[in-house]
Amino acid sequence: MGQSAEIAAAADRLAKAERVAVLTGAGISAESGVPTFRGPGGLWENHRPEELATPQAFAADPELIWRWYHWRRGLIADCRPGPAHLALARLEQRTADFTLITQNVDGLHAAAGSRRLLEIHGSIWQVRCQACGRQYRETSLELPTLPACRQCGGLLRPAVVWFGESLDPELLRRALAAARACQVMLVVGTSAVVQPAAGLAMVAKEAGAVVIEINLEPTPHSGQVDLSLRGRAGRLLPAVVDGP
Ligand code: OAD
Repeated sequence: MGQSAEIAAAADRLAKAERVAVLTGAGISAESGVPTFRGPGGLWENHRPEELATPQAFAADPELIWRWYHWRRGLIADCRPGPAHLALARLEQRTADFTLITQNVDGLHAAAGSRRLLEIHGSIWQVRCQACGRQYRETSLELPTLPACRQCGGLLRPAVVWFGESLDPELLRRALAAARACQVMLVVGTSAVVQPAAGLAMVAKEAGAVVIEINLEPTPHSGQVDLSLRGRAGRLLPAVVDGP
């Protein structure tokens, strides 16, 4: 099948589905200017994200980790949702049962208008106090290098899920329920190597859903999904949502 036939087939499946789940990763925000974790441009000051995004790294050197997050918050603050984010917001509007599960912490899906959204890795715009546990939204780009809790003065951390930490069980429960119940799952811009997020696509597949992948490159999922569309999310996703 040529790619235009694949896009038409994906659009047709999606148009007929009443229950849709979507799993997104860093690739959907790449065209908005947010660096991905893996691949070119995914590095920061010679540190790999896997070395920085851990509770141990934060405990050892909170200043280094906060500098990385201040840098990322500054970058993301200048980014706007792209055509792929906007296409998912349109899809939500017309779909009776819709769940968007994202691994991204950038907030661009919400900015695009998505509401039935599970940010399973948290948000870069949320902070949590290490001392009192209070969590709140903090969008200021003028924070001190080591920001303190408004309530108790304790050390804040970004309220994102780091390697070795568990996902919020309620968010994971809802993500699994959506994966099991959907008729179509779209998997967009994720390298499909970080669990449990990556496993959601196979949960959907085993429960009988049609799984459609959109990615620049092949992933561990590509051989197992029903359709694997190769290319930019900003080009392919609007075509799949609105029809070619
Ligand atoms: P990755 O950086 O691992 O992968 C990005 C994927 O997007 C790759 O498969 C690229 O081929 C693809 N891609 C890049 N640009 C694209 C474009 N314009 N259109 C379509 N696809 C494109 O990002 P994630 O899979 O999201 O976890 O990474 C998963 C998790 O690992 C992240 O949520 C984060 C990270 O460590 C935590 O922070 C817990």
